[in-house]
Amino acid sequence: MSFRKQNQAFGKVRSVDGGNIVTKAEILQTTNPELNVEVGAFVNCGGFHGDTICSISRVTIEENKANEEIKLVELSIIGSIDMEGNFSRGVEQLPTISCDVFLLDGEQVNKIMGVNSDDGKFFKVGKRSMRGAGDVYIDLDKLLGRHTAILGTTGSGKSSTVSTLVQSILRDYPFPRIMIFDIHNEYSHAFKGEWEGKSNSIKWSEFSLPYWFFDLDEFIATYYPGAGSTQKMILKNLIEELKKERVSEDKQDKISVDSPVFFDINDLIRQIKEKETLESTQTKKDPWNKLLLKLNSVNDDSRYDFLKKDIESELSLSSYFNNLLGLNNSDPSYITILDLSGLPAEVRSVCVGILSRLCFDFRYWDMDPANLPLALVLEEAHSYIPEESSSDYSLCLQRIEKVAKEGRKYGLSLLVVTQRPSNVSPTVLSQCGTFIVLRLTSDLDQNKVKRILPDIIGNQSNILPSLRDREALVTGDAVLLPGKVLFDEPSPWPKSNDIKFHKSWSEGPPAGYDVVKIVEDWTQRQKG
Ligand SMILES: Nc1ncnc2c1ncn2[C@@H]1O[C@H](COP(=O)(O)OP(=O)(O)O)[C@@H](O)[C@H]1O
Ligand SMILES: [Mg+2]
Repeated sequence: MSFRKQNQAFGKVRSVDGGNIVTKAEILQTTNPELNVEVGAFVNCGGFHGDTICSISRVTIEENKANEEIKLVELSIIGSIDMEGNFSRGVEQLPTISCDVFLLDGEQVNKIMGVNSDDGKFFKVGKRSMRGAGDVYIDLDKLLGRHTAILGTTGSGKSSTVSTLVQSILRDYPFPRIMIFDIHNEYSHAFKGEWEGKSNSIKWSEFSLPYWFFDLDEFIATYYPGAGSTQKMILKNLIEELKKERVSEDKQDKISVDSPVFFDINDLIRQIKEKETLESTQTKKDPWNKLLLKLNSVNDDSRYDFLKKDIESELSLSSYFNNLLGLNNSDPSYITILDLSGLPAEVRSVCVGILSRLCFDFRYWDMDPANLPLALVLEEAHSYIPEESSSDYSLCLQRIEKVAKEGRKYGLSLLVVTQRPSNVSPTVLSQCGTFIVLRLTSDLDQNKVKRILPDIIGNQSNILPSLRDREALVTGDAVLLPGKVLFDEPSPWPKSNDIKFHKSWSEGPPAGYDVVKIVEDWTQRQKG
């Protein structure tokens, strides 16, 4: 395909200064009514040096002494087309002065990006923002191969974009595997209707994360954060013993305190009580008492019921994963939406960390990572993997940073979604290969993003505060040519967090609105 269509030519190169090229335009509109010379548009400087692919970074009009308008168009180089007709980043030869400059249409841009809808690697997600620049396809392997960050202020369209991405994947691939950590209970709405049979929404009231799957650190972070080394030692020995009792004798020496084997927490509490009564002095009883107090306070708190929901059935980790990842043959599903909205804020971080670690280990022990590649969507990531290294978050940070660093080897990918990029673990962000940057209004966040984004988009980053809903700068592995993308509307939409005051205040509260019920739930510390 030629990247020089005469009816899309608009001017000639006037100066070349490193990666910046200034073009003198004859026209700002071509005979192709769809194509305009506008910021963000892709162009080709085509001459005897070859084809140099650039994006427009600035358009200005000046007047010369004779009062004639001079239209200047500044370009930033993205890459070039080689002898075989393939695109690569960077250039061997810069364009020469006076070579022609051509606008590129959608078909040409997709050709450069290697989009070939036949090989199944690409899926459509939206349109380029520039008129006539065509549909945007994303390379699935690259999107998930090195993790992706989706960044944007509240209301900029992060959740809608995630919904569109996941719905597009469901539309194009029969067997994806995606788990969404749904902090605000908004995603189940997006997977109703045609997606219902393929998705599994685990409601908060059904959420279960059995404590016997935890390793020692996770157990301590949940039941007794701040435990001293004596208490840690006690818990280690007792839990290890209890776990060993549950397996046949020949397997016992392979079981450690970290093995995901059932034990009854009531047995643990009973044993600690016994030890306490055996001690002779109050000083010796103290560590046992403290331990009892902590274990009981979590064990008796109904907000933590999710830890022991499956205690009766002594649920195995394999059954848990079968259900969690929709692997039951009778009722398979491909998208799991875990409603975590009821988790007490202080344990949300620990739970997300544990779930991510379990997924990591599950993929690690599968000898072929290609058997079941899995993507985790971390909604509101700043709320559990913040930059600060306070001990409240250290377990989750450590677990998720491990997935960020090593997950891709085992087919485990992250989609990190956050409104506060300046406050999210830099280790996790720096492992992301693709960035989808929606509207960002705070200076702090814009600066952070400017620092982590590949240079090419740098001079476009001043448009970040003025992007529309679901409009993003997309750059990195998954797209060869970075640029502005308007993501398709999700269908259906996720539940919006925006409360419609005008609607509520026009219609009044729903029939049967019950204050007693609210206070009852509140008193029992349960939402549902
Ligand atoms: N059902 C809907 N129809 C039209 N617009 C919607 C709908 N739901 C949400 N929106 C709008 O989409 C925008 C993005 O919402 P959302 O994706 O939840 O943003 P974020 O996750 O970044 O906070 C919001 O401005 C919201 O008002
Ligand atoms: Mg959101």
